[in-house]
Amino acid sequence: MSVVHLVKRFFGSLLPGGPKTADVAWVESILSPDELLLWRRFYGPDRRHSAAVARRVEVALGDRATTPVLAAALLHDIGKVQSGLRTYTRVAATLSAAVAGREMAPVWAKSTGVTRRIGLYLMHPDIGADLLTMAGSDPLVIAWAREHHLPADRWTVEPDVATVLDQADDD
Ligand SMILES: [Fe+2]
Ligand SMILES: [Fe+2]
Repeated sequence: MSVVHLVKRFFGSLLPGGPKTADVAWVESILSPDELLLWRRFYGPDRRHSAAVARRVEVALGDRATTPVLAAALLHDIGKVQSGLRTYTRVAATLSAAVAGREMAPVWAKSTGVTRRIGLYLMHPDIGADLLTMAGSDPLVIAWAREHHLPADRWTVEPDVATVLDQADDD
């Protein structure tokens, strides 16, 4: 992630509120009832990010933007709901990972307080995949949650679809 991107995302995430009403209705038309329960647990800026990523995927893929592909775009970051971190501490989490390495995340997650929350935040791909498994999501949705921060050579999602999902994700 570039510094410019981090800064843009940081200021964007200070705006309160979720996505526009039309976007919420669109999301409700895509997700299953159990997925929708999860999606509603996102805080406002995450719901906006989710809808924006899915809109870009829809534009890029046109007719090939199937329901599971759009759901994968909407729910890739759903594991973040478990950490309860807001904007300021997310910056700390990103910096901690850069300094100490993401491999410390499981250790931090067993700690307490903000250290634990940072660990959980950095583990959001695996946590998200587990939540989506419990929600009965399509295998593509589960796989993309788990893989969206992995290098392309570790994706199991079909490469052309995964590339579009990756390019649409700006965080
Ligand atoms: Fe993510
Ligand atoms: Fe994302």
